[in-house]
Amino acid sequence: MLRSWDFWRSIGSPKYVCAPMVEQSELAFRMLTRQLGADLCYTPMLHARLMGEVPEYHDKIFDPHPQDRPVFAQLAGHDPKVVLNAAQMVEDAVDAVDLNFGCPQGIARKGRYGAFLLEEPDVAVSLVETLAQHAKVPVTAKVRLLPSLEASMELCLRLQDAGASVLCVHGRTRQQNKQSSGAPDWSAIAALVERLDVPVIANGGIGSRDDADRCLAETGAAAVMSSEGLLECPALFSASSHPTTGQYLDQTELAAMYLETVRRFPSASGAEVRSHLFKMLYAGLRTHTQTRDMLLTAETMDDFGGVVDELRRLEWEQPGFHTDHFSPHASWYWRHRVEAEPTAEAEARAASAEGAEGRGDAEEDPAVARARAESDALQKRARRAAEKRRRRTRRKAGRAEGQSGGWSRPAVKGAAVKGAAVDGVAT
Ligand SMILES: Cc1cc2nc3c(=O)[nH]c(=O)nc-3n(C[C@H](O)[C@H](O)[C@H](O)COP(=O)(O)O)c2cc1C
Repeated sequence: MLRSWDFWRSIGSPKYVCAPMVEQSELAFRMLTRQLGADLCYTPMLHARLMGEVPEYHDKIFDPHPQDRPVFAQLAGHDPKVVLNAAQMVEDAVDAVDLNFGCPQGIARKGRYGAFLLEEPDVAVSLVETLAQHAKVPVTAKVRLLPSLEASMELCLRLQDAGASVLCVHGRTRQQNKQSSGAPDWSAIAALVERLDVPVIANGGIGSRDDADRCLAETGAAAVMSSEGLLECPALFSASSHPTTGQYLDQTELAAMYLETVRRFPSASGAEVRSHLFKMLYAGLRTHTQTRDMLLTAETMDDFGGVVDELRRLEWEQPGFHTDHFSPHASWYWRHRVEAEPTAEAEARAASAEGAEGRGDAEEDPAVARARAESDALQKRARRAAEKRRRRTRRKAGRAEGQSGGWSRPAVKGAAVKGAAVDGVAT
């Protein structure tokens, strides 16, 4: 088996990387970002124990496809046997298995995975060693910075020596995860790149293709990973330009392309589709509130397409990514960084409060919290709307109240375990 740089070259020396994202880096989104410049994608985090114990979880969450390569499957867990078992369940369909040492949420503390394992380095090292010895594909790891550069360096060197073929470094610490997550420290990533022998992927704070290239230049990393920026603008790596025609891709066009990709590569649930559209069409949905209502009650692919068509017709004010008239105020990713917009701030805070309350998770990373809070708020409203519809239908059909039914019928595939918090993982 090829390792480290030989492995990296064998998968085409990727430069632009789509991050692992719970409920957001599903197959369709990965395929869309590939079409628009991503060279490598990660699956969402797969909870190792659930992979082995809950077949519905495995079937729903692990969605490989022969065209979806190169791809790294990200695993979370602390028991080497359990994590190896999960790795062996996925290794034939992926290029590498990645270990999540970056999740800062309370739920990861409870489940003893993610960034909390950075404080149990022996456990992290033994996970890497076990996979490096027994898995059929290389093992990689995604870490956050530790409070000092020396500590980060020592840990990364240990992971490398244990057999990690690639390291992804998110340039923030576990503590940078509440209201002020702050800017990532690219200089710390540069120092790690300088010292490590394996390829490093730099992660954190990428809002445009220029940022991505600046990050590569400043850190010397082999590749750069984007998460939130890419969620809003899946064409971030191609600077909003269509890779074959060169046509400028605005947000409406990107949303339409995403829906087309969901049709071709079905695996996303209705909630996932809704959440993606919310980010891509953020300012349009806020300005034209009737389209927001349409999105809330959308259930089928035709419904989702209707929202995009309506916004296209309305010619909404777009953020204009990668243009001279880029407007951060109209952007989902940037809105929380724009101090001069109290309304958006208040909305973000309200959405976060709503999400945190529902989840009971005070430790959540603001990035994840925002994404979750918004989709939680949307889901809540969608549930109410669906309930209203059901009541109306029952009344019409003259049937008694009280029958059950789900609001979020998946757009394409069943979502039996979605939304159920199972032993320390928000599925
Ligand atoms: C919706 C969402 C889900 C995420 N899920 C994961 C995950 O499953 N595994 C992981 O290692 N990081 C996860 N992250 C963190 C990102 O991969 C990334 O490290 C972080 O957002 C910083 O990158 P950015 O500044 O480009 O957003 C998630 C982030 C978001 C916004």
